[in-house]
Parts: sequence; C-alpha cells; structure tokens
Amino acid sequence: MKAIVIGGSGQIGGWLLRHLADRGSDAVGTFATVAYPGLYPLKASDREAAASWLRQQAPDVVFYPAGFTWVDGCEHDPATARASNLEEPLNLARVTADIGGRFVYFSTDYVFRGVNGPDSEESPPDPPNVYGTAKLDAERAIAGELGDRALIVRTSWVYGPERQGKNFAYQVIRRLIAGEPVMVPSDQRSSPSYGPDVALAAIRLVEDGHSGLFHVAGPEVLSRPDFARAIAKGFGFDLEPIGSKPTAELGQGAPRPLQGGLLTPRLDAVLPGLMRPVSTSIDDFLRRLNHDDGWNDPRVISSA
Ligand SMILES: NC(=O)c1ccc[n+]([C@@H]2O[C@H](COP(=O)([O-])OP(=O)(O)OC[C@H]3O[C@@H](n4cnc5c(N)ncnc54)[C@H](OP(=O)(O)O)[C@@H]3O)[C@@H](O)[C@H]2O)c1
Repeated sequence: MKAIVIGGSGQIGGWLLRHLADRGSDAVGTFATVAYPGLYPLKASDREAAASWLRQQAPDVVFYPAGFTWVDGCEHDPATARASNLEEPLNLARVTADIGGRFVYFSTDYVFRGVNGPDSEESPPDPPNVYGTAKLDAERAIAGELGDRALIVRTSWVYGPERQGKNFAYQVIRRLIAGEPVMVPSDQRSSPSYGPDVALAAIRLVEDGHSGLFHVAGPEVLSRPDFARAIAKGFGFDLEPIGSKPTAELGQGAPRPLQGGLLTPRLDAVLPGLMRPVSTSIDDFLRRLNHDDGWNDPRVISSA
C-alpha cells in the first residue's frame, strides 16, 4: 500500500508514519512548518502545488491528520479555520478520488454540543464552535463527494508520545516538573485517546476496507482533573498541584463541549480491544519514552 500522510510532523501523523513503516507500507509524510528528516514540505494552502504533488505520488491512500487544530485560534480566525480544516482537505480529497485512491479525514468530538455525551456515530452533531463547525462541514463534503473512498475518523483528547511535545500530557508534566500549579476545567469530560492506538486503528480500518464514519477513542470518559491526575500519577508526580475551575472562569476563547466524549460501537464491532485505557496507555507512554527513540520526552527540560 502506498500511503501519504499530510501532517506527518504532527501527533497522529507521526504515529501513522511509524506504524505504516512497521507494517511494510510505502509511506511518505509531509510537514507544513516543523521539519523532520524525511518529510516533504507541503502547505495544503498552496492548493495547486499540493494537488500536483499528490497526483505525482499516486498513492493508494491519503491520511489527512492536519489542519488548524488550535480550537481557540479557530474562533478568532474563522476564515483560516474553514480554509485549513475544510477547503484544503477537500481539494486534496478530490485529487485522491480522481486518481482512484482512498482518503482518511481526521475529525473531532467537538462536532457535538456536548450536553449528553458521550456520543455515538448515530448522535446528531451540533458543533459549539468554529473549529467543530468547519470539521463537520468537511466530514460531510468529503464523504458526500468521495462515497466509499472516504473514511472519517473522529477522535478526542489525543495524548501520548509525539515529536512536537504539545499535547495535554506534555503540558501537565512540564508544569509539574517546573513546580507550577496545573489548573484545568472542572466541568469538561471526554474520552482520552492514546495517539499510537488512534493511528493504528485508522490504518487497520483502511487495511480491512472500511469506509464511512468511525469514532476512534479510548474506552473511558474522564473529567479533565481526573485525566490530569492519571497522567501525574503514572509519571510519579504528587497530585497536589492539580487544581480545577469551571470552564466559565477559565476564559478559553472558544466554547467547549462539557459532557463530551465518543462512544465507539462501530470500532468495537470490527477491532475490539484495540483502544487501550489510560492506565495501560501511560505505562506504554513511559516505556516508549525510555526505550524508543524519536519522541519528545516531557521529563527533559531544555536549558534554551
Ligand atoms: N489532538 C487532539 O486531541 C485531537 C482531537 C480530535 C481531533 N483531532 C484531529 O486530528 C488531526 C490530527 O491532530 P494532531 O493532534 O495530530 O494535530 P497536530 O499535532 O497539531 O498536527 C497537525 C499537523 O497538520 C500540519 N498542518 C497544519 N497546517 C497545515 C497545512 N495548511 N497544510 C499541510 N499541513 C498542515 C502540521 O504541520 P506543522 O506542524 O509542520 O506545521 C502538523 O503536521 C487534526 O485534524 C485534528 O483536528 C485531534
């Protein structure tokens, strides 16, 4: 299988590339602004250049774990949010369909209002913010145009080893190492999803010929404070610096789903047990940091 990963420098993209290589696939990844060896420079906003390069590559499958993923930034810049999360992937999805390939778009539980979560694939979406609206419109446009060549993977609260070291687990660990308090929303709940497992599930779904909409998320719904405590405990830190406040007092730029999270009945039917719970995943996170190379280690504080 020849695969392209648009956003290979990102969290899920890094794991897609690692798993694809381990499984013997011919995979090429791209970066937009953060270069790593072996990645091809591609900005999906350069629409013609990106389309032409993709056509030349002639992949069987394109994974698109990319876009403008900063939820509060999207709220302040809706034009970029729509371009980056809807129009640019749709452009490359059309090219992929033209050359007979399959396209995997990564979406989010933020397509749900989050008043009655966790939600399944059957729940009616109702995004609370600009980011979620652009993602939902992209899901619909890509699935509508590509039919069974499209796989839509919704995930949530992704964490685990990554090269850029940006995810919530890194933020918690770095603050604890610095001796700073960790203040998280007391009233947000969702499904923590281990990045290596999210990527593997997406690849397995493609390999097994699935299309359509799949929720790919961890098996537990946790509050942010409980998730932060699980990370701190797993990494051997005292839990005392972890505090919480209601979302309304935190001044986040975009409204968030509060009772969020994803039920995964479709994934469970075809790949049962693939998504690991937080405690097992954190053991794996530590094992990989200690024995695997290439990932940013949040315990190593740069002097720069
Ligand atoms: N992380 C989560 O908790 C979460 C939850 C739900 C859904 N998702 C979705 O899952 C996907 C992957 O998330 P992630 O956490 O892996 O994201 P990430 O770490 O922020 O990575 C985003 C990737 O997109 C690339 N990118 C950004 N703008 C681009 C552009 N205009 N053209 C081409 N590439 C561009 C980035 O490149 P550079 O870094 O090189 O600039 C990076 O490789 C996203 O679509 C996100 O919406 C994530």
